[in-house]
Amino acid sequence: MTGTFAVKLEEKRYLPDPRFKATAWTPDYTRAYQEFMRDPDAFWDRIARELVWFGPWDRVREWNHPYAKWFVNGKMNITYNCLDRHVTSERKDKPALVWRGEGGEERRLTYDGLYREVMRFANGLKSLGVGKGDRVCIYMPLVPEQVVAMLACARIGAVHSVVFGGFGPDALAMRINDAEAKVLITADVGYRRGKAVPLREIAKEALTHTPCVEKVVVLRRGTPAVDLDPAREVDYADLCREAAPDCPAETMDAEDPLFILYTSGSTGAPKGIVHSCGGYAVGTYYTARHDFDIKETDVFWCTADPGWITGHSYVVYGPLAVGTTVVIVEGTPDYPDPGVYWHLVQDLGVTIFYTAPTAIRMFMRYGDEWPAKYDLSTLRVLGSVGEPLNPEAFEWYYHHIGGGRCPVVDTWWQTETGMHIITTMIGEAMKPGFAGKPIPGAVVDVVDRQGNPVPPGTGGFLVIREPWPAMLRTVYRNDERYRTYWETIPGCYTAGDLAVKDKEGYIMILGRADDLIIVAGHNIGTAEVESALVSHDAVAEAAVIGKPDPLKGNVIKAFVTLRVGVSPGDGLSAELARHVRKSLGPVAVPAEIEYVDRLPKTRSGKIMRRVLKARELGIDPGDISTLEE
Ligand code: PRX
Repeated sequence: MTGTFAVKLEEKRYLPDPRFKATAWTPDYTRAYQEFMRDPDAFWDRIARELVWFGPWDRVREWNHPYAKWFVNGKMNITYNCLDRHVTSERKDKPALVWRGEGGEERRLTYDGLYREVMRFANGLKSLGVGKGDRVCIYMPLVPEQVVAMLACARIGAVHSVVFGGFGPDALAMRINDAEAKVLITADVGYRRGKAVPLREIAKEALTHTPCVEKVVVLRRGTPAVDLDPAREVDYADLCREAAPDCPAETMDAEDPLFILYTSGSTGAPKGIVHSCGGYAVGTYYTARHDFDIKETDVFWCTADPGWITGHSYVVYGPLAVGTTVVIVEGTPDYPDPGVYWHLVQDLGVTIFYTAPTAIRMFMRYGDEWPAKYDLSTLRVLGSVGEPLNPEAFEWYYHHIGGGRCPVVDTWWQTETGMHIITTMIGEAMKPGFAGKPIPGAVVDVVDRQGNPVPPGTGGFLVIREPWPAMLRTVYRNDERYRTYWETIPGCYTAGDLAVKDKEGYIMILGRADDLIIVAGHNIGTAEVESALVSHDAVAEAAVIGKPDPLKGNVIKAFVTLRVGVSPGDGLSAELARHVRKSLGPVAVPAEIEYVDRLPKTRSGKIMRRVLKARELGIDPGDISTLEE
């Protein structure tokens, strides 16, 4: 079996105003791509020189399949590029972060202000015994301190592992233990839909089985301030107050780890994706600047939480390395009403807006009248990430948010890639439904199982053929799992997505090829949800699949067999949903639970989710020769 199949392709295209091309950082995609292909090392060398390095590299890259090193022996610190580089320039008093809370509260930090906060907190972490190479877990709401905490870790060479505030205690504990984090940074609460999410309480529950954690830093937001446990907890503000103001950036080797970020795997526990300092800095700086075409006066809003890779690369490191003004907003896109984002765009003069298709589809549902109430004329570039931007959502976004004037950059990439890999560069023709072409800097293909390119119009596996600077370096403490990325299809990095190219080389992403489900842009592993279900007393076995959903892209459907003597009585489904929510958090809760007598399995006992999915959707299940009787 080659794994390929025929796909019918859309033909529509939009051409942006030629002025975009004329002024873009990459004014001619084709030429830039050719320049890259002629001499990839020279291409990346030139970009890396736009950043500040403490010591030069000997070689741009060293590729020893499947291990890459970039900017070999180069010395740097990413925070020097995000902060020091700007405070010694005219950007010193430029807003770096503009934060809005759910109730409309605003906080602004200039580059100088952010620099000072980061240095104080970095010294605070040092006073807790955190040093280079130590792991620090950050479990915070979307507040400026979350960004400060990440940068403070990077400043002193500590490796951060940010865990999204929507995760529950078991998911948090697993991540803390896998990384062996010494310190946890959290907050008493986050705010969501007018309610306080008790992060510290959830963290406390996680901490009952995380022996590695020595200290917990708590940002206290609520009034009256919660009492802290003096044996283990430290107040965020006290720690900063008592810390020395200056903290020079630690000298990091380009290949030293910068952070670990967990992502769902197709089997077993989530994987700790490891990113390194130098290549990641160069890759995110370059793609932020060129793919969004960030100019000095732009106001940049990426709606992702820094708990996901999109937040790491395009809320924190990329845009700050470029030196732009970054908007961060705590809350949800439809609270207090579905116009809240457009109100913010108008109010803050946002010029570049980057969000997920699931949000766009939600806005479409609420109706055109919401964006129509606001002046969105400051917008000049729109971005999308996380799942396929279907043509209907593209059209709506393009017309109702972008006024038919703004290029839409649909960016395909992953936690593992660290940076954008495919998009339609500003100024190029956009094709609804297609993410676009590989950025200058990436070599991408659609292939069969053997790695042979498939012709246009034929679906296959999306692969990356050459290493790129911001690529993952390994899976934390699980190098074997890392190697499978490069060993599944000969000679290529396998993304795990299905895709198709058209005659012009535009790539359409068709979805995951494996047991991952993208729910509202969040990557959920079937294995994690299944094991949460099975940990409930009533459940014998569980299998979960993604079921297409007009709003969320996919929702989770669980098939459950119950233990002998248990019947699916009243309220069991609600009880199981609560159980999953409590363990993994709201993102992983099944929308539907069906009770079955048995699950389809292979003769070797592996659950065949593919068969369940085919049955659910009424489609052909493909090869079922391994299905047990
Ligand atoms: O299936 C692809 C989908 O999201 C997966 C990566 O998820 P994660 O590591 O959580 O990172 C999400 C944000 C970068 C991919 O394997 N995906 C991401 N961007 C797109 C996409 N699918 C289609 N179009 C995109 N633009």
